[in-house]
Amino acid sequence: MALSDSSIEQKKEVRQFWDAEPCGSRYLEQRQDFEAHARMRYALEPYIHEFADFKSARGLKVLEIGVGMGADYIEWLKAGALATGVDLSEGSLERARLRCELAGYKADLRVADAENLPFPSNSFDVVYSYGVMHHSPDTARCLREAWRVLKPGGEARIMLYHHPSMTGLLLWLRYGVWRGKSLRQSVYDNLESPGTKTYTREEAVALMQGFRDVRARLVFSPGDLLVHQPSAQFQSAFYRLVWKIYPRWLVKRLAGTWKLFLLVNATKKP
Ligand SMILES: C[S@@+](CC[C@H](N)C(=O)[O-])C[C@H]1O[C@@H](n2cnc3c(N)ncnc32)[C@H](O)[C@@H]1O
Repeated sequence: MALSDSSIEQKKEVRQFWDAEPCGSRYLEQRQDFEAHARMRYALEPYIHEFADFKSARGLKVLEIGVGMGADYIEWLKAGALATGVDLSEGSLERARLRCELAGYKADLRVADAENLPFPSNSFDVVYSYGVMHHSPDTARCLREAWRVLKPGGEARIMLYHHPSMTGLLLWLRYGVWRGKSLRQSVYDNLESPGTKTYTREEAVALMQGFRDVRARLVFSPGDLLVHQPSAQFQSAFYRLVWKIYPRWLVKRLAGTWKLFLLVNATKKP
């Protein structure tokens, strides 16, 4: 299927965004301090290990779509999986390759687009993608590709951004309310790369066409609880105060399903 001009342009912007600041690079105390990055990542998102279930992949063929700086990708290698990783951003892949090399692992990392995966159908036992597909212009197409390359009986583990969430609400208060934008538009325009989409649980499940045993659960993102390190535009005294007084305990009690991360497991029919 041919991509529209606007979709090509948007994907270029997505790539440029992640080339300029590979995901999580603000946690690198020094350029090569990948240990610090991993420590911070798994402290802030302790559910990743359980969701990815790296250990279960020993000897299996795994595809990680959108590896970023490779924090999870190297966990597949450590677990003994035959792991291939792709990302749109060469800048991110450079870091991921360096991370593997420094740790003594041989990486199979390539630039590729989640919407057009360069692999034959029915190739992988596990397809994993964490926080990636909602950044691509055609998320449904990314999921169709994930399904295609998965072997029958294989499992997909996909994290997508959920609507509504506390992160969305905070972005709306900061950028949307004064301009008459919706919660979703505020996320679309202001959360990470331009054009970030969010899905209700029902919408996400509907996107998993062809999959079976689709299970989806919600968890708080670091942004929902403001426990992450603020990005460059939130460094002023005002934002430092917001971070300090944000009532995390109250949010945890009252936010209900207003959580950003939707963790989706599904299998391809054998
Ligand atoms: C939020 S980062 C997540 C990276 C990594 N999964 C993590 O959790 O640290 C999003 C990543 O998705 C990649 N990405 C966005 N659209 C993509 C696409 N169409 N194909 C492949 N990678 C894509 C970006 O380059 C970026 O590295």
